[in-house]
Amino acid sequence: MTPIIRTLVHPVLLLLGLLSAAVGAAPLVPLPSRTSPSDLQVSGLLPGGITNGFVTREQLLSLPLTTVTNVQDGALKRSAVYRGVPLTALQAALSVESRSDVIFLICGDGYTAHVDAAYLKQFAPLLILEIDGQGPEKWGRSLASGLAMAPYYVNSGSFQARPAERLAGIDEGPVYPYAVARIDFSTSDRALGPLRLDGAASELARLGERLAIRDCLSCHDHRGVGGLMSNRPWALLKTWSSNTNYFRRYVVRPKSIQPASRMPGFSHYNEQALDALQAYFREWKPGGAGR
Ligand code: HEC
Repeated sequence: MTPIIRTLVHPVLLLLGLLSAAVGAAPLVPLPSRTSPSDLQVSGLLPGGITNGFVTREQLLSLPLTTVTNVQDGALKRSAVYRGVPLTALQAALSVESRSDVIFLICGDGYTAHVDAAYLKQFAPLLILEIDGQGPEKWGRSLASGLAMAPYYVNSGSFQARPAERLAGIDEGPVYPYAVARIDFSTSDRALGPLRLDGAASELARLGERLAIRDCLSCHDHRGVGGLMSNRPWALLKTWSSNTNYFRRYVVRPKSIQPASRMPGFSHYNEQALDALQAYFREWKPGGAGR
């Protein structure tokens, strides 16, 4: 390349880059099919009528990255430095439709976490690409569950349960899924609407609705929304909710019923939380209109 072309090309590219940044053009265009096991699947409200695609680790590494330190990582049980893309920046880079107000983080084992706009704003979770300067091949396994952490991990620099999210005296927990393979951008109306109670529901059941969506949906699904790892859909939980003893014992201490249970016991739940949950599942209508 002659020096003259060099000096011509670079300012032009620079200008294009500045222009596309200024108009908010998407620097991240998903590929139609998987090219590597390390690709991240993205789905939902993507632009141009696309509902599914794949982005490579290289594409993600080309975005502006943020570095934060978490002094108490829940999976690694130590302090950890994360380098990655804030989920809101990923949303912007993909030009996700602005009506998307809930993000599902879908893991290899079917566990499915979700974060809403308020959580994103408060805790700024990152799609983590490096932990302590190392890529996913060095991440090892979660000390909480023994599962491999790769290919993607989502966590925030810090977390503190919000007083407004305390339900029946039960605090929210941090959202930090590992083995994340897919990210789905949805709306709460579309995804959570079918889980909502109708206008005739009791106050107690409404409290239970928020608790169940927050604490149960990650492993129990309803028609494609929520986690598949339990293989026990929402409608089955409704069936069990009519058996007071079984339902409540299972939630608090699953191993007392099923010794090989993989469900974590909610031993911190008080009577009001259990009452609310049970009322919710009893009043919820699987085919109902929701609100
Ligand atoms: C981390 C995953 C996980 C979460 C979160 C979870 N469960 Fe489960 N649950 C399971 C699994 C896995 C099973 C299947 C049997 C087993 O391993 O215990 C199960 C089974 C059950 C059963 C028994 C179903 C049957 O057919 O016998 C009930 C009832 C239940 N869960 C209720 C709940 C409720 C209510 C919540 C929320 C407060 C909840 N679970 C949250 C993983 C989970």
